Amino acid sequence: MKFFIDTANLEEIKQAKEMGLIDGVTTNPSLIAKEGSINFKEHIAKICQIVEGDVSVEVTALDVEGMLHQGRDFASISPNVVIKCPLTLDGLKATRILSSEGIKVNVTLCFSPAQAILAAKAGATYISPFIGRLDDISHEGMQLITDIVKIYKNYNFQTQVLAASIRHPRHVVESALAGAHVATIPFKVIKQLVKHPLTDIGLELFLADWGKFSKQANN
Ligand code: E4P
Repeated sequence: MKFFIDTANLEEIKQAKEMGLIDGVTTNPSLIAKEGSINFKEHIAKICQIVEGDVSVEVTALDVEGMLHQGRDFASISPNVVIKCPLTLDGLKATRILSSEGIKVNVTLCFSPAQAILAAKAGATYISPFIGRLDDISHEGMQLITDIVKIYKNYNFQTQVLAASIRHPRHVVESALAGAHVATIPFKVIKQLVKHPLTDIGLELFLADWGKFSKQANN
């Protein structure tokens, strides 16, 4: 399973890279807006210099022509750039065209298996089902991941399932159990993944015992 970091923050991306766990980055307009008054394209270029893998960058145009224009423009920033198109009819048309030009597309804002079938048929490299936002409205977000993985396997679709809108470590584990190819994870959750109270207690005990042993050995 690949791990992408779900952020546009350079410091978080650098720290996650140092952990050696990160295969790529996903951004969206809200994450970019959090970074304040940056130069958008320069900022994306900086992200691409830090990470070696795919960096998803979302179009904001709503019509095919606008999406194609932005998609080609963003893709020219770096070979790492993957264009995020929304799951609309225009987004699917743009996905088909950009994919046929060799530009990878991540189809975003997916909330149903039917939508995911369309993204695969349009030639998307990634489909981004949003788990947390479905949970937020009392739906079972994880069921969407399970359903899409099954459908894609049934037809040998090459589109990769990128579990998005991840809010906590269980989302990561359950996405892995369901067979998602990628999880895009906020930095806070990446750090939560490593924590277990029994690890901390166990380490404390080992060090205490080692301290006793060293004392004896020195005597
Ligand atoms: C990533 O590609 C998505 O845009 C992101 O995971 C959405 O997460 P959110 O629902 O927490 O905003």
